[in-house]
Amino acid sequence: MTKIRAAITGVGGYVPDTILSNKDLERLVDTNDEWIISRTGIRERRILKEPGKATSDMAVMAVRDLLSKRGLEPDDIDLLILCSVTPDMIFPASANLITHKLGTSKPWGFDLAAACSSFLYGLHVGAQFIQAGTHKRVVVVGSDKMSAIVDYTDRNTCILFGDGAGCVLLEPSEDDCGIMDAILRSDGAGAEFLRQKAGGSLNPPSHETIDAREHFVYQEGKTVFKFATTNMADVSRRIMDRNNLSAEDVQWLVPHQANKRIIDYTAEIMGLPEEKVLMNIERYGNTTSATLPLLLWDYEKQLRKGDNLILATFGGGFTWGSMYVRWSYNS
Ligand code: COA
Repeated sequence: MTKIRAAITGVGGYVPDTILSNKDLERLVDTNDEWIISRTGIRERRILKEPGKATSDMAVMAVRDLLSKRGLEPDDIDLLILCSVTPDMIFPASANLITHKLGTSKPWGFDLAAACSSFLYGLHVGAQFIQAGTHKRVVVVGSDKMSAIVDYTDRNTCILFGDGAGCVLLEPSEDDCGIMDAILRSDGAGAEFLRQKAGGSLNPPSHETIDAREHFVYQEGKTVFKFATTNMADVSRRIMDRNNLSAEDVQWLVPHQANKRIIDYTAEIMGLPEEKVLMNIERYGNTTSATLPLLLWDYEKQLRKGDNLILATFGGGFTWGSMYVRWSYNS
């Protein structure tokens, strides 16, 4: 019997118009363009400025882009998974808000949070519904309005993050293309190094938590950096090895965009030259759940049917993982 795989058959994306450059940040905190570029690779990021607009609105724009490119309607979706650490509100799930704004109540949906690894986890979860044969069209969206939880008085974190949304459509494929393998990991021992200290059930919002700025991203950058470099490289190398892929067999590395130095190290361990590494960190910074689909969106025209892609990620939690995808279409 032919194996049914979940294939990525469409990509959509959206970034807000407003640009926050390194020069703009120089006016907010004690930093400079040269330091940010050399330590992170980031030149600018996009910020969702419009009042009343949230993570779901960017997701809606990305999904509309995907549907129009594929000639589909919102009712054609069976399941929508929103991957995000900045949902519009804690409940109801923002997936419901997205489908409502798209004008449909046909798909069911839910939110999935695994910090910067959310999208890769979501892709793996979505693929299960396709492989099981119970769903024909699953949309996996990564959308984050990081500007809502970033402290623009903290130079350690505010330089890193940006806003954006990207999504993919998963459909069944019988031509040996699609999601071939995945390694997903998590280790809660890392939780203390990258987190939002207040706002949840442990420390509900109060005047004290607001005064202590505990609703913003807290990060011990050096520890996260060390963890990320070692582990993203490790899972990326391991997924190549267990699928007998040499560096020549891999056409593209699609890495989480957190820091160019972490990406360069991962590519080096995989033996991949720079031209095989997809990168847009310079323009968008770290958009958390949106980095991987935004890369696929930006580079879609260069991806050819049959190309071997390695998706790789890491994030708070700690969470990390890699996925081997054989690309399924020419656009
Ligand atoms: N501008 C200028 N100087 C800065 C700065 C900024 N924005 N932020 C920190 N510095 C200073 C520090 O205060 C320190 O000064 P000191 O030596 O006088 O104490 C110096 O630069 C070096 O700081 P350090 O924290 O060691 O820098 P780094 O090389 O580790 O880079 C990060 C900092 C945050 C860029 C880096 O640690 C990182 O990318 N970590 C991982 C972050 C990440 O990927 N997070 C997302 C996970 S999904």
